[in-house]
Amino acid sequence: MTPESSPFTPGQPVPIEFFVGRISEVERLRSLVRASSIRGRFKVGFVAGERGIGKSSLASFVRRLSEREDEVAGVHVFLGGASGLQDMVRRAFDRLLKESIDKPWYENIREFFGDHVRKVGLFGASIELNVTAADLGILVDDFVPSLRRLLSKLKGDRKALLLILDDINGLADSAEFANWFKSTVDQIAIENEAFSVCILMVGLGERRHSLIKLQPSLARVFDLIEIHPWTDAETAEFYTKTFKQTAGVSLEDTALQTMIRFTGGLPVIAHEIGDAVWRIADGPVITNSEANAGIIIAAEIIGRKFLEPQIFQAIRSKRYRSILYKLADDPFTSSFQRSTIRKKLTSEEDKVFGNFLKRMRDLGAITSDKESGPGSYRFTNQLHQLYFWLEFLRARKDENAGRQ
Ligand SMILES: Nc1ncnc2c1ncn2[C@@H]1O[C@H](COP(=O)(O)OP(=O)(O)OP(=O)(O)O)[C@@H](O)[C@H]1O
Ligand SMILES: [Mg+2]
Repeated sequence: MTPESSPFTPGQPVPIEFFVGRISEVERLRSLVRASSIRGRFKVGFVAGERGIGKSSLASFVRRLSEREDEVAGVHVFLGGASGLQDMVRRAFDRLLKESIDKPWYENIREFFGDHVRKVGLFGASIELNVTAADLGILVDDFVPSLRRLLSKLKGDRKALLLILDDINGLADSAEFANWFKSTVDQIAIENEAFSVCILMVGLGERRHSLIKLQPSLARVFDLIEIHPWTDAETAEFYTKTFKQTAGVSLEDTALQTMIRFTGGLPVIAHEIGDAVWRIADGPVITNSEANAGIIIAAEIIGRKFLEPQIFQAIRSKRYRSILYKLADDPFTSSFQRSTIRKKLTSEEDKVFGNFLKRMRDLGAITSDKESGPGSYRFTNQLHQLYFWLEFLRARKDENAGRQ
């Protein structure tokens, strides 16, 4: 099928119509938002989960629902690379301004920012917040009163503000941010007045820990929403629904089962596999061989995007590489025993095997396989394992070519 018509969106938050699963997480987040919009309570949620699990998509989905059904004004701001508090506040207010441009309450928001709004771009078609460092300092210090004034401007149109602070990874290591946030929370509590704002922070689970380490009282502030891998049923629903709805195409059961197995419950991989299979598929039913061909392509893409920079670069030593290939010489075994692998190693490799396993565990490439008992490990994801196997084949081919 043609690539342009692919409904799969690797790397981007999923469009609302293809959003799958996460029912209880959506309900919990919506009840936080409703506590703000109905009861005027200040709420803070933390959406945590590994990379590519669907944090931004979940936050974005909840935002759309809340805007549609709970009369909430939503802002989703990506803070990757934000350099500090002032930068965060600037980006948040700038987003708020830009996202309200086509909303009925735009004039009120514009009034709120006064002469700090600047027209930019061709024909002045877009707008931008124009503030000095001094203005930003004031916005940081007066964050709570500023939001109160903003809420009063929205009155009659919107009942609450939902502020999504996504990719807070850099800020979470900043004591300045942690302390500022804690005093913001305290200030709101002391005022003891309605404050219809819900803040959702989005990031890796360890970022929440680093914030709490910097400022321990934040632990009781966050409502934690942890996202886990999809169940097999959810992965099946994703593939079936997406292929059916967009192209009226169905999947052979074996094809679906193989795709589920290599997805490992990770939405980011589901989109990559879906997209690759979509390009190959030709006909009303996707066959197992089309699925397999797609999976190999997806493994190469995921490998180059994530494994190459994150894992291969970190284990450059010849011995480590060679051990890795021995681990991944069969893409279909799901778990391996330490003792079985040792038998395949040279004595030089065996000496560094313990360190190798630790390094691979720290990198998140492998994990202990509790189900198969002590001394058992598995790759965290089967598609990763498949990529390592492809690399192993390539290395062997190069070696053979070298010998000839
Ligand atoms: N519930 C879902 N239904 C369908 N697709 C999803 C769902 N959640 C995520 N995806 C898809 O999975 C991929 C990763 O999702 P997303 O960007 O939301 O993850 P993330 O956890 O925010 O990742 P990162 O840690 O890189 O920011 C995207 O292509 C997205 O479209
Ligand atoms: Mg994200």
